[in-house]
Amino acid sequence: MPEDNEAVPVGAPEKTIPLGEEAPSATPEVRPLLRVEGLVKHFPITKGLLRRQVGAVHAVDDISFDVRPGETLGVVGESGCGKSTMGRLVTRLLEPTGGTIEFEGRDISHLGVGGMRPMRRDIQMIFQDPYSSLNPRHTVGTIVGAPFRLQGITPDGGVKKEVQRLLGLVGLNPEHYNRYPHEFSGGQRQRIGIARALALKPKLVIADEPVSALDVSIQAQVVNLLDDLQDELGLTYVIIAHDLSVIRHVSDRIAVMYLGKIVELTDRRSLYGAPMHPYTKALLSAVPVPDPRRRAQRERILLKGDVPSPISPPSGCRFHTRCWKATEVCRTDEPVLTALRTGHQVACHHPEPVESPGEAAA
Ligand SMILES: Nc1ncnc2c1ncn2[C@@H]1O[C@H](COP(=O)(O)OP(=O)(O)O)[C@@H](O)[C@H]1O
Ligand code: SF4
Ligand SMILES: [Mg+2]
Repeated sequence: MPEDNEAVPVGAPEKTIPLGEEAPSATPEVRPLLRVEGLVKHFPITKGLLRRQVGAVHAVDDISFDVRPGETLGVVGESGCGKSTMGRLVTRLLEPTGGTIEFEGRDISHLGVGGMRPMRRDIQMIFQDPYSSLNPRHTVGTIVGAPFRLQGITPDGGVKKEVQRLLGLVGLNPEHYNRYPHEFSGGQRQRIGIARALALKPKLVIADEPVSALDVSIQAQVVNLLDDLQDELGLTYVIIAHDLSVIRHVSDRIAVMYLGKIVELTDRRSLYGAPMHPYTKALLSAVPVPDPRRRAQRERILLKGDVPSPISPPSGCRFHTRCWKATEVCRTDEPVLTALRTGHQVACHHPEPVESPGEAAA
């Protein structure tokens, strides 16, 4: 996982250069593992027997981002802003309405079930709820071994041995192979879900709020497990969360979403130290600060009103109905996500000024 490191230029691969290979040149061109361009998902709203379409939920509305090999991209935003939909589009559990999804340079946006089958090995998803995502009638062995059967693969040494190895890898007792999900705690169940996701040695793992359903006391353990597994297995992560506290220590870069849009996307240090979008500032002001002195100094921003409906999102900037900086232009013109500094993209007509580096303590 990343350390705050000013010497690394934004955009450089921080940890994927094997020894003996040449370091990248001054302007490194890393081919992203995942490239998402103009991704859209509208869920139609239909009415009557003829199911006439009367509107649509604009769940994901034109988002673009890259994920580089070996990095963790955090995705945050309030409930309903389209994070899970984004995850399900990328893992192709949902069909996009528009835009493209490229994995290792290959367009997978509209691959059918058959076309996606080999890709399922490379792209895996960890779900939010470890209670409903595991079949209660199946043993842990059956659950974690399912990906092998679905892909028709027999791992070296057989499925049972490999499943037991996976259970050990995620910190579970390999002897508990024959137990059922209800015999495990929430945190242990999420470990089972992680073991299943890792069975086929994926390259990309999308974790959708992997610890939100767990006790606060064990959230850190599961996040740390994901972190350790990334280093051990060379995984690339997209980790979805609804607030900025959980993913702080594991994300290299963070995308902030609001009502189906990415409003800010930058490296961890800039996002936590010098956020430029008013919405990010508001989210950050809600993150618990352990140090009482810093807590006292901090300005709390309480957002007024609720998140508007994604069925008819506000005109112009979607955040204007809740933004304390909104002006007329915000109501009429949609701000485009633009790089205001190297590696720091913001969609706002009146972004926060960039603080001097000394003030921007991450
Ligand atoms: N299958 C679906 N059909 C209709 N609307 C959906 C569906 N899935 C999600 N939505 C809507 O899309 C919006 C985004 O949902 P979601 O991606 O689950 O957000 P998040 O994960 O950020 O909470 C919400 O308004 C939600 O109600
Ligand atoms: S564009 Fe305007 S309304 Fe939107 S976040 Fe920026 S200042 Fe606020
Ligand atoms: Mg969700």
